[in-house]
Amino acid sequence: MPAPDLDTIVSLAKRRGFIFPAAEIYGGFANAYDYGPLGVELKRNIREAWWRSMVRERDDVVGLDASLMTNPQVWVASGHVANFTDPLVDCKSCHQRFRLDHLEEGIYGEVRRDASGALRCPNDGGELTEPRQFNMMFKTQVGPVPDEASVAYLPPETAQGIFINFENVVSSMRRKLPFGVAQSRVSFRNEITPGRFVFRTLEFEQMEMEYFCRPPKDRANPEEYLSLYRAWVQERLRWYTDVIGIDPARLRLREHTREELSHYSAGTTDIEYLFPWGWGELEGVAARTDFDLTQHAQLSGHPLTYFDEETNEHVVPWVVEPAAGLTRTLAVTLLEAYTEEPDEKGDNRVVLKLRPNIAPVKVAVLPLSKNEKLRPTARRVYDLLRPLWLAQYDETQSIGRRYRRQDEIGTPLCVTVDFQTVGEEGQPGDDAVTIRERDSQAQVRVPMAGLVEALRDRLGGC
Ligand code: GAP
Repeated sequence: MPAPDLDTIVSLAKRRGFIFPAAEIYGGFANAYDYGPLGVELKRNIREAWWRSMVRERDDVVGLDASLMTNPQVWVASGHVANFTDPLVDCKSCHQRFRLDHLEEGIYGEVRRDASGALRCPNDGGELTEPRQFNMMFKTQVGPVPDEASVAYLPPETAQGIFINFENVVSSMRRKLPFGVAQSRVSFRNEITPGRFVFRTLEFEQMEMEYFCRPPKDRANPEEYLSLYRAWVQERLRWYTDVIGIDPARLRLREHTREELSHYSAGTTDIEYLFPWGWGELEGVAARTDFDLTQHAQLSGHPLTYFDEETNEHVVPWVVEPAAGLTRTLAVTLLEAYTEEPDEKGDNRVVLKLRPNIAPVKVAVLPLSKNEKLRPTARRVYDLLRPLWLAQYDETQSIGRRYRRQDEIGTPLCVTVDFQTVGEEGQPGDDAVTIRERDSQAQVRVPMAGLVEALRDRLGGC
């Protein structure tokens, strides 16, 4: 099925408690969103799937959670203070401000030009000012006196927290090259272009890993290093298809051209997704060489080296960085999972076909009706399942409507308690319940004693 349009997803996300526009009661706030009860679970599950693949299932990667607020010199060394800028232009008549590259890409609407080919305002065709460089970091102040010494920055990426802790990790964890350090947390960028839902926001979550490798013998010919970088590109692509369940036909790799690469980079490949508006970046895998460690060593005066016991020398490791967007992946997950299909009555059935490992609610317990006789047993089943999985209990409205509601939020399994379960008119019940599968809508009756195992099998062990 082709991916749905964005409005369909935005509306479902709000209606079903995944994502709300930020500060809606005050008229909203551009490029900011709040994650609702189901959104926060979905986000946690995607992060957990990443952490599992990158840290838990590997023996060469460890985790980190560095302070968001940190010494501003970190951002001087990383180059963000000087270079983390975008070119902005203003319309001389309507005074709206645009990012020049986004204007050229048509993100603000139709690209307008005058007779000489110069770009014009997409709103009113007005003349534009010369571009000015605008730093995308948010500045803040630490302490009571607002002066130069109190300036701090909200982090625009998670990576630098890893580089500045390189030595701490090496000495405390006794790591041998190659090894990685992974971190997932919030980052901030002063984005001025309307963000297309959570694709581009002021505050977003990243999942980044810095993989430290032995430096090449010949800087100009780092073949072994580049093959590690290419292996990470493939491994990350595999994660999106095999773990998150993204259709490979809507993923592609785009290698940066020489002109796009930063001067220190030996290569960058974006993993792109085919969004409703076209291809867009989901993750960047970058061969960052020894740039960051060298920069921090120079500015801090603290050598950031690794003692290589094989060669008996101190070396500065080279780095491969797979940098993914958690909240962007969440948007893709919703786009990919959304399906509409006719049900047995010919009505439209909306189903979020989320993989069980990332579905927010794993199982819903639904008594056939609100009847008093069913409730105690249904509550008992709910109490049995709640410690194991995020479960929902629902007895309002018809059973058909309740199935639809669970389909729409991606719950893989429903458990129904009916009169056969509890017995009727003096007859004993069979103490069995019905498991209903979301995608096939198949129903199977299982004894209550084997329910947990039957659910576990169907949820693939999660
Ligand atoms: N440390 C490298 C780095 O930060 P990046 O390509 O700027 O690289 C990595 O960011 C990922 O973070 C992107 O591929 C994207 O998924 C996500 N990302 C970046 N800016 C974002 C924004 N404003 N809103 C949502 N996600 C964003």
